[in-house]
Amino acid sequence: MEQSTAYKDATRTIEERIDSLLAQMTLDEKIGQMTQPEKNSITPEDVTKYFIGSVLSGGGGNPTPNNGESWAQMVKGFQKAALETRLGIPLLYGVDAVHGHNNVVGATIFPHNIGMGATRDADLVERCAQVTAQELLATGVHWDFAPAVSIPHDFRWGRSYEGYADNPAVVSELGAAFVRGLQAPNGGEAHILPSVKHYVADGGTTWGSKKSYEWIEFVWESETDKWSIDQGDAQIDEETLRTIFLPPYKAAIEQGALNVMASYSMWNGVKLHGHKYLLTDVLKDELGFEGFIVTDWMAIDQLSENYYDAVVHSINAGIDMNMVPFDYKRFITVMKEAVEKGDISMARVDDAVRRILRAKFWQGLFEKPITDDHWLDDFGGEAHREVAREAVRKSLVLLKNENHALPLTAEAGPVLVAGEGADDIGLACGGWTIEWMGNKGAITPGSTLLEGLKAQLGDENVKYSAEGAFSTTEKAPVAVVVVGEDPYAEGEGDTSNLALRAEHVALVERVRAVCDKLVLVIYSGRPVILSDVLAECDAIVAAWLPGTEANAIADVLVGEAPFEGKLGHNWPRSMDQVPLSALKASDQGPLYPYGHGLSL
Ligand code: GLC
Repeated sequence: MEQSTAYKDATRTIEERIDSLLAQMTLDEKIGQMTQPEKNSITPEDVTKYFIGSVLSGGGGNPTPNNGESWAQMVKGFQKAALETRLGIPLLYGVDAVHGHNNVVGATIFPHNIGMGATRDADLVERCAQVTAQELLATGVHWDFAPAVSIPHDFRWGRSYEGYADNPAVVSELGAAFVRGLQAPNGGEAHILPSVKHYVADGGTTWGSKKSYEWIEFVWESETDKWSIDQGDAQIDEETLRTIFLPPYKAAIEQGALNVMASYSMWNGVKLHGHKYLLTDVLKDELGFEGFIVTDWMAIDQLSENYYDAVVHSINAGIDMNMVPFDYKRFITVMKEAVEKGDISMARVDDAVRRILRAKFWQGLFEKPITDDHWLDDFGGEAHREVAREAVRKSLVLLKNENHALPLTAEAGPVLVAGEGADDIGLACGGWTIEWMGNKGAITPGSTLLEGLKAQLGDENVKYSAEGAFSTTEKAPVAVVVVGEDPYAEGEGDTSNLALRAEHVALVERVRAVCDKLVLVIYSGRPVILSDVLAECDAIVAAWLPGTEANAIADVLVGEAPFEGKLGHNWPRSMDQVPLSALKASDQGPLYPYGHGLSL
């Protein structure tokens, strides 16, 4: 087949370049572009052999050692293999950088979206995305499976912290800002491809509605609360879907976003991954989405026990690329058989490939498939971390402040600090950090609230005990107690009980006995039920999941920076006000309403 090199000519329009390339691609090369294995399942040699268009790292899909340089080498190895194919189509390497390049040790980790939502600051969100993009480029990564534009309507959902707010306009504005930041990390030299997710109404599912897929070995199920609402069924009418959950996608498309990730969930019992009306008629035709739709991890497999039927159903519904982490060869074989049988038309394949190539040409991937090493110079550096500290400060929501508990001062004596979270970076970061589920401990470089308080007040003026074990000779003027949630992600964080753990209630009571004023700081991915401690606390601060720069919390607690954060959700009084529909039906208002946030 005569090979035209017109597609390599950057002076031509993107559509001309796509036409030139598509016209000379074989079916194998086209199917390869639609295939995205996970990096542990494929060798660079097979990337070349199967014309693979994309490779991903799932949560925790890290090289060894796990650092920027090692990541850059890994990604470069896959990219060079893609460039060795007949047509030299560069691959897209994708990761979940949902609050910074969070898989990589040493990266700058920002507050999770629920904290960013509390800032209501689109410019700040854009700048955080730009820093994230620069750290992605430092590792050769061109595709970020973010922003999640989820709108959680039930805090029992383990992904609540991935949503900015319970307000379509706010989510649209902040999601669009994140898209802008990724697409132009420094005035446009390089573009990171955002993935707006999870389409659509992933946050509107009903507790207990998740199906089981016994034919899938790699399943997420549990006899406990876990996986009870994630990937469930959004039992809502079309007006609700269109007025609440669809607007953030419109806003992202207006920013030029060229990738959307389909949701595992269902809409009134129909899986999104096979929903032609929503994927094709609404997203592509009605909203004019010209990019490509990628599946979620192995999500096609959930459509049918018969894999052939699942693939045909999903691709014909409008899926363009399959995130097929493991058995990519089976997908390729099935795709080829389905096209040869006519169950999937060549026109559908060409449309999918055209969309994928459009994103790659738009990114400049053909001109610069391998990023410059200079991006590594600032990776996790001070300038990036200062942006994260600004985000931490602006994300804090002051829920309660009585008896002038805040601002903190050591003038009357040492400040007591209790709670393991005060000195634990892993607890400050939450899920999606280094490992999929995150972990406690010094998992990555950063600074803790305790370090921040010592820097602000002086080491001699801060007494720390994780267990709140202080001498009881005399009461301290003020104590800071950090409570909250251990790290989790996705359905592993689904829970029917949002109350503070008994050990944290006991910790508050223990410290209450040895201080005049008690300031509660909450590290959580969602509102938690505070009834057991509310009366014990003079001040309460929602710090969400602040990331590696938790020392910045101290700047606000001592009054050096203002409290600016506003709740993006109604904060329920009890589990009787969860989910949102129960709160609306409740004859009491929320403990703290949407938009609440005190200042000093
Ligand atoms: C996960 C998540 C999705 C993520 C993908 C790749 O299961 O649902 O948000 O982008 O798989 O890690």
